[in-house]
Amino acid sequence: GAPVEADISDLKPGEMKVFEWRGKPVWILKRTPEMMASLAKTEDKVADPKSEKPYTMDMPEYCDKQSRSRKEHSDVLITVGICSHLGCSPSSKFAAGAQPSLPDDWAGGFLCPCHGSTFDLAGRVYKNKPAPQNLDVPRHMYLSDTKILIG
Ligand code: FES
Repeated sequence: GAPVEADISDLKPGEMKVFEWRGKPVWILKRTPEMMASLAKTEDKVADPKSEKPYTMDMPEYCDKQSRSRKEHSDVLITVGICSHLGCSPSSKFAAGAQPSLPDDWAGGFLCPCHGSTFDLAGRVYKNKPAPQNLDVPRHMYLSDTKILIG
């Protein structure tokens, strides 16, 4: 599949856009400082905090382990929106209490509607969930601050 160019110039902090790459949904989420701070708190609640057991692709080596993004754009999460359990597409659940299945201290993230796997705001799967692996992070490079080449 050919690389896809994503324009995020209209993306505000806290917003997410979906692009298509190789027939898969690629999410680009611009995280707020609060969302970034939540990642330190989920560190010991996720199954694979350093993404050592990838799903279909290794996390690119230039990505920071916690934010799972390039250091110079650490607020921007780029991830493939396909659950490693049986391939459903999770939905974004940024608000606490949106679902009974979400913990009270839910800092936001993603919830797979199929069997209830939850992911933090870096796409890392919570422990003891049906999904065994984190959401994939595709290779990507910034053509400018707001233009990203995915793939
Ligand atoms: Fe996502 Fe089963 S497909 S939890």
